Amino acid sequence: MEGKNCIVTGGNSGIGFETALALAMLGANVIILSRSQDKAEAAVKSIKAKSQNNHVDFILADLSSQKSIRDAAKYIRREFDKIDVLVNNAGTWFSSLELTEDGIERQFAVNHMAYFLLTHELLASLVKSDDARIICVGSDSHFHGKMNFDDLSLGKKYHGIKAYAQSKLANALFVYELDRQLKGRNIHNISINCVQPGLVKTDIGLKHTISLHGLAWRIRRMGGVSPAKGAETSIYLASSNQIKSESGKYWDKCKPKPSSKRSYDTNDAAKLWKICNGLSGISDYFSTLE
Ligand SMILES: NC(=O)c1ccc[n+]([C@@H]2O[C@H](COP(=O)([O-])OP(=O)(O)OC[C@H]3O[C@@H](n4cnc5c(N)ncnc54)[C@H](OP(=O)(O)O)[C@@H]3O)[C@@H](O)[C@H]2O)c1
Repeated sequence: MEGKNCIVTGGNSGIGFETALALAMLGANVIILSRSQDKAEAAVKSIKAKSQNNHVDFILADLSSQKSIRDAAKYIRREFDKIDVLVNNAGTWFSSLELTEDGIERQFAVNHMAYFLLTHELLASLVKSDDARIICVGSDSHFHGKMNFDDLSLGKKYHGIKAYAQSKLANALFVYELDRQLKGRNIHNISINCVQPGLVKTDIGLKHTISLHGLAWRIRRMGGVSPAKGAETSIYLASSNQIKSESGKYWDKCKPKPSSKRSYDTNDAAKLWKICNGLSGISDYFSTLE
C-alpha cells in the first residue's frame, strides 16, 4: 500500500481505528477523520507507534454537519493529488430523535448522508487513482430496515433501532446505485463495496443511548468479535489484489453475500439518490468530474 492515500472516517476508535492501523502497517499514507482533537491525536500517536509508519495524520470533521464534511473534503483535495481508498466507516446509534444543524435525523445524517456527501466531494480525487476503492461500512441490521421515504427522520414515531436499520439499508442502496452510475459513465477505476463487520465489541451502543439501551448493548456485544477481527473485511477490500475489479457487492468475512431483498430495489435506490441530492444541495453528483 506504499504511496496510496487512504481516508478512514471514524478512525479514532473501534473498527475504524483497526482499519487505519492495518493500512498504516501495510505502508499506506493514512488520514483519519475524527470529530475530536484529543481522540484523533491519541489514535494517530498509537497508530504511528504500532505501525512504525509516520505517514499517519488526522483531519477534524463532524460528519453530522454538511459544512464540516465539505470543509474536510476541500482540505483533502488541496493536500493530496489523489485518493486511493475511502473507508466510509464512522457510524452512530441514538436512542432518541435528534436533528442535526442541517435538519436531518442524526443517524441518517452520520450513517448515510456523510457517506453520500463525502464520496461526492472526493470523486475528483478518487478518479485520479488507477485503482480507487470506496468501502462503506454497513450492517446486517439493514435486513430489518425499511426506507420511510415519507418520514425519513421517523419523526412521527421515532425508534432508534429502526432509524439505525434504515440508515444501514440506505448504505447498501447507495453502494449499488453508485456502482451502477459509475459503470454507466464508463468509470472503471473506482470500485465501491459495502461491508458487514459482524457483531463487534465496540462502544457504539454506549455513546448516545439511554441507560437501558446501553445495558442491552453491553450484554449483546459480549458475543461479539474484537474490533481488529471486525475490521478484516474492510482491510481486505482496501488492500487485496484479488478483488481489484470487484464492485457493487455486499461483503461479510471477506466474501460477497446477498444483502436484503429491499436493498436491491432500484426504484428505492433512485428515489433515495434524488432525496439525498436534494438534502445536500447537489444538482449533479458527478459535476466535479467534468
Ligand atoms: N460494532 C458493531 O457490532 C457493528 C456492527 C455492524 C456495523 N457496525 C458499523 O461499524 C462502523 C464503526 O462502528 P464501531 O462499532 O467501530 O463504533 P465506534 O467505536 O463508536 O466507532 C464509530 C466511529 O465513528 C465516529 N463518529 C460518530 N459520529 C461521528 C460524527 N458526527 N462525526 C465524526 N465521527 C463520528 C466515532 O467518533 P467518536 O469516538 O467521537 O464517537 C468513532 O470514531 C459504524 O458504521 C457501525 O454502524 C458496527
